[in-house]
Amino acid sequence: ISKEEGRMKEAHAFAAEYYQHLLLNTEEGEKALIYLEQRGFTKELIESYGIGWSLPHWDSLTQLLTRKGFELQEMEQSGLIIQREDGSGWFDRFRERIMFPIKDDSGRIIAFSGRIIDHTGEDAKYLNSPETPIFHKGQVLYNLDQARPIIRKERKIVLFEGFMDVLSAKKANVHNGVGTMGTSLTMQHLNKIKRLAERIIVCYDGDKAGWEAAKRAAEMLHAEKMKVDVAVLPTGLDPDDYIKQFGEESFKSKIIEEPQSYIAFMLMYARRNKNFQFNNDILQYVDEALNYLVGGISPIEKELYIKQISTETNISEDTLNMQLRQKEGQLA
Ligand code: UTP
Ligand code: MN
Ligand code: MN
Ligand code: MN
Ligand code: MN
Repeated sequence: ISKEEGRMKEAHAFAAEYYQHLLLNTEEGEKALIYLEQRGFTKELIESYGIGWSLPHWDSLTQLLTRKGFELQEMEQSGLIIQREDGSGWFDRFRERIMFPIKDDSGRIIAFSGRIIDHTGEDAKYLNSPETPIFHKGQVLYNLDQARPIIRKERKIVLFEGFMDVLSAKKANVHNGVGTMGTSLTMQHLNKIKRLAERIIVCYDGDKAGWEAAKRAAEMLHAEKMKVDVAVLPTGLDPDDYIKQFGEESFKSKIIEEPQSYIAFMLMYARRNKNFQFNNDILQYVDEALNYLVGGISPIEKELYIKQISTETNISEDTLNMQLRQKEGQLA
């Protein structure tokens, strides 16, 4: 890496140390520490993930890094500070937020995401570093640096949306979890994942955005020949909420260890918003569902899902099989 990029990472390391000090050892950080404790964070977790707190002041980080010998220009390029529009000075990007360091694959901090404590106003819940020479959001998976050895060993990875999900799952002894940080899965993420594991469990939030993102990710991963399962959460809960409500044990044994297969999830997704009182909905569902059964699936699975679809729609297995063969013929 270039000298400039090395300096940017150094600035991030200083910043993280400063933010963590503010969280753990100062009166200003107390409110944030209480918030984190209420969300189940232990001191060990806070320390091992370098979590911190940024002051409400306009320029406390700017001043600290200036004293450490960093130029304003390089701090700005690294995303840590912002120049005022009228050019009259600089201010800290992150103020009054709980700070989550984001690391590259070798464990060096390259960006931050800051969570607001009271998320009621119009400010974003999480504020992220911008794209910089060292941070490309579409390439980074949260926690991959720490989870890599176990992912590699088990050849299995769990994909979450958020920081809190990754960290709560970690407390629930799911150590192979990484986060896409709200962005959709990219080909760059996927290529990284493929090199480490054959098997993936997509565990996104139990809301509309989460289901849609899970469907899209599952299709992408399936197309790249990974063995994909989808862990589906009760409506309205994300993994962190689930753990809070039902406990760590239940999360591991009922959600992570009993996911839906790719096809079962796709059928479930296709059934959403359909009313089988209407022939049109039945026709549409059967058509979508059978598409998932064309090619690349064992005879046993085929029979299982044909039975399922038949029960759901009241169309006979014979008819469904006939329709499926027709689809396969069209494909051949
Ligand atoms: P969620 O809205 O599901 O938040 O966004 P969360 O992870 O459950 O957070 P808590 O539990 O309310 O604290 C999922 C992820 O999307 C990104 C973050 O990475 C978040 O973890 N995100 C979300 C942003 O980058 N900015 C936002 O304003 C919101
Ligand atoms: Mn780059
Ligand atoms: Mn979400
Ligand atoms: Mn969530
Ligand atoms: Mn959450």
